Amino acid sequence: MKIIVTGGAGYIGSHTVVELIAVGFQPIIVDNLCNSDVSNIQGIKEITGVDVQWYNVDCSIEKKLVEVFEKEEGIIGAIHFAAYKSVEESVREPEKYYKNNIGSLEVLLEQMKKHKVNNLIFSSSCTVYGTPDILPVTESSPFKKAESPYGETKQMCENILQKSDVKSISLRYFNPIGSHFSSLIGDCSADKPCNLIPIICEVAKGVREKLIVNGDDYNTIDGSCVRDYIHVVDLAKSHVSALHYLLKNPKKDVFNIGTGKGLSVIQAISCFEKANDKKINYSIGHRRDGDVEEIYSDNAKVEKLLNWKAEISVETAMKDAWNWEKMKVK
Ligand code: NAD
Ligand code: WQD
Repeated sequence: MKIIVTGGAGYIGSHTVVELIAVGFQPIIVDNLCNSDVSNIQGIKEITGVDVQWYNVDCSIEKKLVEVFEKEEGIIGAIHFAAYKSVEESVREPEKYYKNNIGSLEVLLEQMKKHKVNNLIFSSSCTVYGTPDILPVTESSPFKKAESPYGETKQMCENILQKSDVKSISLRYFNPIGSHFSSLIGDCSADKPCNLIPIICEVAKGVREKLIVNGDDYNTIDGSCVRDYIHVVDLAKSHVSALHYLLKNPKKDVFNIGTGKGLSVIQAISCFEKANDKKINYSIGHRRDGDVEEIYSDNAKVEKLLNWKAEISVETAMKDAWNWEKMKVK
């Protein structure tokens, strides 16, 4: 069964392609490598032994995406990862984010309708909840004001999907971390990392002198912010579960994809230190503007309906994150 995977050369996309192949789907990658590397495609081939089909195409350009749909007969669904994802950059260049993140979804939906392809899994984010009032957050928690234009694009895309004729599932990822245990695929983002775990890895490697903890005066277990860190392989597997569910239940739905457990920044540092027997140099700094104090997922719905739950420990995720960092050439 052929599945279009936009952004399939990226961090989460490449891991998902591996899991799709493992259960017998035939992924067709559509990725222009604007924020990834061909080495991830090579890595997928090495892990799976399958020469995965890849189109070096910008999926926000209609006439390019048309060619893929016309060439590939028998497509039964799509997973849409392709988007820009830097929160910081989205504040500096919001239009770039509206254009790519919303534009690519609109173009994809148009082609799906035209070719009668009716199953779409969309990469959403827990950022749609903004700062939640109640923890853990359930799928029925309201969208609060987005903290960034990036967050706004995810809210807008989910709204577009609600109005579309195409059946879809939006997966609201919490904080994906780690890499495939082989270290053959991972996050190849062009930008300097801004996320916590990649920064911890850079400090461990000596590329960065120290980590600044963005505030220790929040109302949390130790004063630092709390997140729900999920291993990217667990996250990848949730797409397979969502696809199976959507094929059997043609409707629209949304699911949180997290572990259900919160970890503070200081706990994350200490978990990395223990898992990898490495000391991390850090100090306490100021709060980061717009930071959410605490967020973690309520998994009741996803466990019940998709029969999926995260299985890999956060310690393993920290080890895999460090192994990927050590392997990285750039
Ligand atoms: P990524 O940047 O590694 O992957 C995105 C991929 O899409 C890249 O390979 C990039 O080259 C490609 N791409 C972007 N625009 C494209 C276009 N117009 N045409 C073709 N290819 C294009 O990012 P990721 O971390 O794998 O994220 C995947 C998705 O998950 C994104 O939609 C992101 O917003 C969402 N998400 C990510 C996180 C996270 O923390 N990584 C959290 C929540 C949601
Ligand atoms: C985690 C915690 C930081 C760096 C972002 C996006 C979100 C989603 C995931 C896509 C925060 C703290 C970080 C540092 C620190 N992406 N931190 N020192 O903020 O949960 O979410 O990525 O959808 O949309 O906003 O993740 O990894 O940036 O931060 O103390 O040097 O680590 O302040 O509290 P976040 P993060």
